[in-house]
Amino acid sequence: MSNSFYITTPLYYVNGEAHLGHAYTTILADVLTRYHRLFGEKNVHFLTGLDEHGQKVSRAAASENKSPQDHCDQMAVLWKEVWKNLGIQYDDFIRTTEPRHEEVVTDILNEINKNDDIYQKEYEGWYSVYEERFFTEKDLIDGKDPILGRPVEKIKENNYFFRMSKYQDWLIDHYKNNPDAVIPSFRLNEVMGFLKQPLGDLCISRPKSRLDWGIPIPWDDEYVTYVWFDALINYYTATLAPPQGKTVIWPADYHIIGKDILTTHAVYWPIMLHAADRKPPRHILAHGWWLDKDAARMSKSDGNVVNPLDLAKKYGTDEFRYYLMREMVLGQDANFSEEGLVRRINSDLANDLGNLYSRLAKLWHKFDWGRLPQKGSYEDLIDEELNERILSLESRIKEEVINFRPHAAIEEIMQVVRGLNGHVEHWEPWKFTEDTLDLAFAMMGALDALYKVAELLEPVMPVKMAELKDRIYKGNQADRTMSPQLGKPLFPRINIKR
Ligand code: ME8
Ligand code: MG
Repeated sequence: MSNSFYITTPLYYVNGEAHLGHAYTTILADVLTRYHRLFGEKNVHFLTGLDEHGQKVSRAAASENKSPQDHCDQMAVLWKEVWKNLGIQYDDFIRTTEPRHEEVVTDILNEINKNDDIYQKEYEGWYSVYEERFFTEKDLIDGKDPILGRPVEKIKENNYFFRMSKYQDWLIDHYKNNPDAVIPSFRLNEVMGFLKQPLGDLCISRPKSRLDWGIPIPWDDEYVTYVWFDALINYYTATLAPPQGKTVIWPADYHIIGKDILTTHAVYWPIMLHAADRKPPRHILAHGWWLDKDAARMSKSDGNVVNPLDLAKKYGTDEFRYYLMREMVLGQDANFSEEGLVRRINSDLANDLGNLYSRLAKLWHKFDWGRLPQKGSYEDLIDEELNERILSLESRIKEEVINFRPHAAIEEIMQVVRGLNGHVEHWEPWKFTEDTLDLAFAMMGALDALYKVAELLEPVMPVKMAELKDRIYKGNQADRTMSPQLGKPLFPRINIKR
């Protein structure tokens, strides 16, 4: 269908410190794109970036006595550092203050306006600065924003409106014809439920007198563009002005978002594109929230956030990525706890994976198997069932990844790791005082299978798995001559202090 795999994460608000939810969205996109590259997909493209306009940003800049642009420039450096420290390999990093983006937003606004889908009217409503959107009186719960319970302010002003209501039936048809346009399907049901109510038109401007930090409405310099209308277009901009040497095709294959921004992505955005005669994204993949131990959504203003960089520093970037991918069932909410993270590292990575390698490497050195001819195949594994599972592992992982079950993919790989540990135990190698060829080949077969495991876990733990591969076939990966390096444990056990 498409000749590229183009995946995007939403833009991040520039004044928000990265929290666990942020890290998750972008690590997920990183892991999926790395898997698609591993599976040989060409033209894999991963876009992320920053949402730099709007009231939240201008207020944050003002509170630091900085111009909004200076504030954004400084935040951009910090965010890029965050992504680097979390092992994120994006192909393009877009900022909504870049000229390439302002041009495209201007063009799209002009096009939609030419089609007579924009009009002006006076509007009164309750505005949430946090969410950068209006609510009606009856939307409010206890006088607060009904989604996140944040304060709202009453605002009455003249604004431009986009005739979103006109396209409601088109959108319903679009989802009926493309039931996988929103994943998981229960999120599509939510969107369809929302679309049972008449859709209002979308306020797409802010008077400059109230907010001047935005892209100007091209035909009226008293106004700037509403920040969501500006931000959503980034995905499309990135295809018109990609980094040098890249071709990126619209529509994007996947937008990866958290469920809090489902309406903007699954309702506003496809309608905006349709009104401008562009195709909607192929799929919107909405994941759940990371909750704290008391099942509250983690967010900075609720003070229950954990800093992903602190966790990555304390426990290792790859270990942290492993935990996030293994623990959350994509689409569902998940609870975060530091004890859970430590438990996961100790059981899966230190006990199962790290230990398997070190016991095999020690045996290899003890019996000096370097002198034997290399036979690195799985056939010597005694257990036929395990052998079968290793041979089919890659295709099963592919299946899980394509169906957005990274946690299940990881679990299947770890089952093989546990199977290999069982295989080693079955041979009871500690009872051998003398070398035998059978033992040597059985253990070398296990090492070779472990290499396969490392390849398949590399998208999740790029640094540690590259190291493991390199240790197994030190300098000899091409001709596959084994030479397992001893050295420090791959995943040291973490002592739980009481
Ligand atoms: O929404 N658990 O940016 P943002 C999981 N700039 N994911 C979470 C989360 C949590 N507790 N909290 C936030 C924006 N996220 C806009 C997007 S796109 C055109 C503009 C996710 O910094 C959230 O769902 O508030 C989103 O995918 C991402 O973090 C950035 O959130
Ligand atoms: Mg948000």
